[in-house]
Amino acid sequence: MSTAMPAWSLTENASLKALNTFHVDASAEQLLELHEPSLLPDVLALPQVAGTPLLVLGSGSNVLLADNVPGTVLVFANRTIEELEHRADHTVVRAGAGVNWHGLVMWSLQNGLSGLENLALIPGTVGASPIQNIGAYGVQVDEFIQAVDAWDRATNQWVRLDNEACAFGYRDSVFKREPDRYLITSVELRLPLLHDLRLGYAGIAEEMQAMGVELPVAADVANAVIAIRRRKLPDPDVLGNAGSFFKNPVLPLEQVEVLLQQFPDLPVYPADRDDRRKLSAGWMIEACGWKGFREGDAGVSAQHALVLVNHGSASGAELLALARRISASVLEKFGVPIEPEPRLIGAQW
Ligand code: FAD
Ligand code: EPU
Repeated sequence: MSTAMPAWSLTENASLKALNTFHVDASAEQLLELHEPSLLPDVLALPQVAGTPLLVLGSGSNVLLADNVPGTVLVFANRTIEELEHRADHTVVRAGAGVNWHGLVMWSLQNGLSGLENLALIPGTVGASPIQNIGAYGVQVDEFIQAVDAWDRATNQWVRLDNEACAFGYRDSVFKREPDRYLITSVELRLPLLHDLRLGYAGIAEEMQAMGVELPVAADVANAVIAIRRRKLPDPDVLGNAGSFFKNPVLPLEQVEVLLQQFPDLPVYPADRDDRRKLSAGWMIEACGWKGFREGDAGVSAQHALVLVNHGSASGAELLALARRISASVLEKFGVPIEPEPRLIGAQW
């Protein structure tokens, strides 16, 4: 006897507390869970859904819900991983939008594939991974994305965007610039069987030495990244947060040189253009005295100054008010504007 899973379900007045890693207590007018993405045009045309505002959520690990969400929140629940093409040096993999990102990283390593090891333990879903072009420890996912399949709400048709069409940048893509236009149903990644491990980011080599690894393979790098992340970042299951709350600002080199005269210890990193540099927002926020700050239940992590935290029942509006105070103080001290990384829902920056 088969117990067929319904292709979709619609719940009215649904709590989003477990659907955002800040654990902000907000609700959605209705929550649409879709297991079978080919039905997307049909469910979007349902009378209860058509004409209502629409927001896609993965695991809610990069959003700040400043208010209750009107209309429909759509969650993709397609969680299959398929191998599309095997070659001597790579495999092409298609993963459903609802697949857990870290689960895909672990699956790839167990199947002898590499490339994603530096991106281990990033929370969230595969469907969200292209949105801000997730990155960590010297790697961004755009290096491995071959194509993204999506429903285009501007033209009402299925589209397949190749890597170039995604216009990836640091924490950026066409999807981030045109929010809510593309509903991503799956992502295709081209993963090498062997590649040069990326060990340059501060801390990875030291971590592996401490682990006693001499000739590292991709899985060792993933283990090192996991250990560093567990040490550095608060676990959202224990303390609500959305990872880095601000992007690291990218500034013209001349402006950075002037800043360095006044703040010689300010960490500076390469950016995607030679005439620009990326600065550490976390360092600047700590220098303004915010690390470990708490007012009510809204605060700044004592582990990492770039991470805003919800100690219990902070509202999205309270967290946002704190973020605005932090950015104003960084602007005043350093003359550098910093912008939120998570998407603000129900508010403008
Ligand atoms: P959500 O937060 O649910 O959504 C994020 C955005 O994507 C929203 O605009 C949403 O509408 C859109 N979206 C989601 N799914 C789809 C879809 N299928 N189609 C169209 N739009 C969609 N990020 C990094 O890059 N690097 C890190 O190292 C990192 N570390 C983190 C550590 C912690 C502890 C936390 C909590 C977060 C961290 N993040 C990091 C941020 C977050 O994990 C990523 O941005 C992740 O990709 C968000 O996935 P999600 O499924 O939770 O997306
Ligand atoms: N720093 C401080 N105080 C702090 C934290 C950091 O001074 O409390 C300074 C230190 O000098 C440290 C430097 O900032 O060496 C960099 O810190 P870290 O290595 O933690 O990196 P980050 O720039 O703060 C970025 C990403 C993270 C990603 C890490 C590792 C952004 C906005 N954040 O953080 O991504 O995991 O690098 O690659 O680019 C996220 O996007 O949510 C996220 C966690």
